[in-house]
Amino acid sequence: MDALRRMEYRGYDSAGIALVGPDNTIHASKKAGKLVNLEAELDESPLPEANLGIGHTRWATHGAPSDANAHPHVSASGRVALIHNGIIENFAGLRAELEASGVGFRSQTDSEVAAHLVGREVDNGLGLADALRTVSQRLEGAFTLVAVDRDEPGLLVASRRNSPLVVGVGEGEMFVASDVAAFIEHTREAVEMGQDEVVEVTASGYRVTDFDGNETQGKPYHVDWDLSAAEKGGYDWFMRKEIHEQPHAVADTLLGRFDADHRLTLDEIRISETELRAIDKIVVVACGTAYYAGLVAKYAIEHWTRVACEVEIASEFRYRDPIITPRTLVVTISQSGETADTLMAVRHAREQGAKVIAICNTNGSTIPRESDAVLYTHAGPEIGVASTKGFLTQMAACYLLGLYLAQVRGTKYGDEIALVMTELETMPAKIQAVLDNAEAVHALARELVDEKSVLFLGRHVGYPVALEGALKLKEIAYLHAEGFPAGELKHGPIALVEEGLPIFVIVPPQGRDQLHDKVLSNIQEVRARGARTIVLVEEGDTEVEPYADEVIRLPKASTLLQPLLATVPLQIFACEVATLKGYDVDQPRNLAKSVTVE
Ligand code: M6R
Repeated sequence: MDALRRMEYRGYDSAGIALVGPDNTIHASKKAGKLVNLEAELDESPLPEANLGIGHTRWATHGAPSDANAHPHVSASGRVALIHNGIIENFAGLRAELEASGVGFRSQTDSEVAAHLVGREVDNGLGLADALRTVSQRLEGAFTLVAVDRDEPGLLVASRRNSPLVVGVGEGEMFVASDVAAFIEHTREAVEMGQDEVVEVTASGYRVTDFDGNETQGKPYHVDWDLSAAEKGGYDWFMRKEIHEQPHAVADTLLGRFDADHRLTLDEIRISETELRAIDKIVVVACGTAYYAGLVAKYAIEHWTRVACEVEIASEFRYRDPIITPRTLVVTISQSGETADTLMAVRHAREQGAKVIAICNTNGSTIPRESDAVLYTHAGPEIGVASTKGFLTQMAACYLLGLYLAQVRGTKYGDEIALVMTELETMPAKIQAVLDNAEAVHALARELVDEKSVLFLGRHVGYPVALEGALKLKEIAYLHAEGFPAGELKHGPIALVEEGLPIFVIVPPQGRDQLHDKVLSNIQEVRARGARTIVLVEEGDTEVEPYADEVIRLPKASTLLQPLLATVPLQIFACEVATLKGYDVDQPRNLAKSVTVE
């Protein structure tokens, strides 16, 4: 149950466990809703003690969140219990085949077919591991399957294709899970599982094979963060804790990037300088908040490297037959490293011969493993479903990558790169200053908590910040919010503006930026139509005050780096509004942290 609690952020609409009891019987319990419902059920009807068990928290794909659709699913004869993450794309045909042979289904899930198929194989005489290998070969789509058989009470087997699975190696105890947070309390020794592999786990060890039964090697690694990183540490929400961790997280992402000759070194980028010089186009691919980090990256990369940079939503990427060649550099951004849409984009790009660099926060996850190179963000585990430190560190990594490419391609002199790096290194302290002066943002949240709609405007890199501010408010406060490029408003969305509508505006730095005055005009346009303007502006800029109903001050920064500061008040605002509304900030409705299905 402790492990499930740590994994709940990945899915929380139902949960269940199954134990193989000493009596060679499977004892299962499952409940719709959050884990507390299952806990209450188990308090009422406890299961017997056992040495082997599986558990699951679900994010519904096929079939509503209900007791019946919760995992584990038990095979027709009752021998096998199984849990599944992912989507079995050919489940309809398999279900028809099983039904034709007399199997009755108890759920609407795609997962139940796997339980019955494995059950049928063991009923026909195969051992559990062979049964799982055989069935895994028949399944299409994405799956991590974990199964136990009441007749092999010392064995647990798991297989994976396109979904995460790690093994935790303890002393006299073993674990498998979607991520290490589940077992970090017990062991920090983990083993990464490759694509299309099966692991057989007993209390004393593990064995990895491919789906044909050929022995393979998992990749052992040591988890270098401790349990406290995955706990709230006195905060009410993980999200709030993670917002406050941002100065450290950004500092850690920037740490140790200069060598003795003051050259930027990104050791993890195992793509030769010759190849990087030959690149004629950069395509950044990501989802959600990571996509917005990509939008910021475009401005920085094009400005510093003069190479054309496109940014694309990963779920759209491969389906439009994008023009990708061996001279295209594809950069993926993913906090979890497991987002299915982004993973599929990586595979598509590599099939076209492109080199792929992953910007990622999760060691050992699938996307970096399948990429040519990886730039880790070192933010530590992000548990809140709404990404915060993930976003800031992704932007920091994008700046590093942009500067590195400029250095390799010679589009910036060394001293120019050093100047930006010096400014980047001042950012953690400035982010801390934003956090320390957030009382006005809290007050604003109290005033605006009952609003029905909020708009966010920005230009240049302020535009992705506006999108991110709106996404945060939508996903945790369930409030209608939209981000627009401030100059685009007059082409349509300004019709939404009515008396009192709150509009956040991110103002570029004064004096050094040509867009500053344009944004002031945009503020006046919405104010003239009754909007309540909340303006994020750098300290010392007083020009904006006559047109602002509220002013949120930011430390000074250059235009390209301003998103590292301007995002923070918007995160705090969303967190505060959601808290005041009484919502579960860390586990907002309908969402899951890692979206491992397409
Ligand atoms: O793990 P990833 O960075 O690949 O996740 C991408 C998105 O699913 C993620 O950023 C999502 O939009 C968050 N809920 C945003 O807060």
